Amino acid sequence: MNQDSKRVALITGSTGGIGTALCRKLSEEGYRVVGNFRNQQKAQQLQAELAADGHDIELAHGDVADFEAVGAMVRDVEEHIGPIDILINNAGITRDTSFVKMSKADWDAVLNTNLNSVFNCTRHVINGMVERRYGRIINISSINAQKGQYGQTNYSTAKAGMHGFTKSLALEVARYGITVNTISPGYIATDMVMAVPENIREKIVAQIPVGRLGGPVEIAEAVAFLISDKSGFITGSNFAINGGQHMS
Ligand code: CAA
Ligand code: NAP
Repeated sequence: MNQDSKRVALITGSTGGIGTALCRKLSEEGYRVVGNFRNQQKAQQLQAELAADGHDIELAHGDVADFEAVGAMVRDVEEHIGPIDILINNAGITRDTSFVKMSKADWDAVLNTNLNSVFNCTRHVINGMVERRYGRIINISSINAQKGQYGQTNYSTAKAGMHGFTKSLALEVARYGITVNTISPGYIATDMVMAVPENIREKIVAQIPVGRLGGPVEIAEAVAFLISDKSGFITGSNFAINGGQHMS
């Protein structure tokens, strides 16, 4: 397919575990993938790794916690690559610690990166989607927004905020052919989970009925389904993908 006729998908946090799987899957599905990053070296590594398998992706630098930087990034992508049809708000961080020890910096970093980023990115792409009467927005939340998690008051708050955002925005933009959905992954085998001390991680895995961590590709498969043209009736939803660890 000609590059110009492909739908453009912007994936934030593309250099991470889930982001990399998203880039690969969406490229396989025929989207023109733009991977947002903040670390040049990691981004070039990702681009080379995918190119070796025949996937040409574009890169877009920007700190998603910075409203102005995101604005500049979106303008640059839309000018040089094309209008953004699909936005996957995937960038995220953890700063786990019990609340009695939590610093203001731990709180702000997690809220800015995981939740304010959703405003920053969506705000800069939404008007174009409305004008073009088409859009797909996916917010990557977490099982820990649904069930809570010791040591994650900041993260659970940010990820739970995404649900309210998804539902309200879905109501406002449904009439323009734009869908907005949340995916709530359980524990997926990426650097984020591998940073949890091994003894604690083992206890968490023991609570997962399927008996293992999820794979990043298992999240990417669900995203590919939700952004397809066939999923136009799915909006304001939350998809829990957690190996049976939490059912609500
Ligand atoms: N329930 C009850 N008690 C718990 C507990 C739990 N789930 N987890 C830890 N504790 C207890 C410890 O056993 C310890 O008890 P003692 O003092 O009696 O020894 C005590 O709490 C430690 O408390 P602290 O206040 O000292 O805790 P801390 O500030 O050092 O934080 C922690 C500990 C960093 C939160 C650590 O427990 C941890 O890493 N937990 C895992 C958190 C987690 O699951 N993070 C997910 C990261 S991946 C991700 O976020 C992706 C996703 O969306 C799924
Ligand atoms: P990861 O491997 O740590 O990747 C996180 C990505 O986000 C990295 O590319 C990171 O870039 C990027 N990022 C962080 N802050 C950023 C910022 N300010 N601007 C731009 N990019 C930024 O983690 P992951 O597991 O793939 O997580 C992806 C998303 O899934 C996160 O939102 C996470 O909360 C969510 N999630 C993960 C799990 C899980 O179990 N893994 C479960 C539920 C939800 P750098 O590499 O440069 O830091």
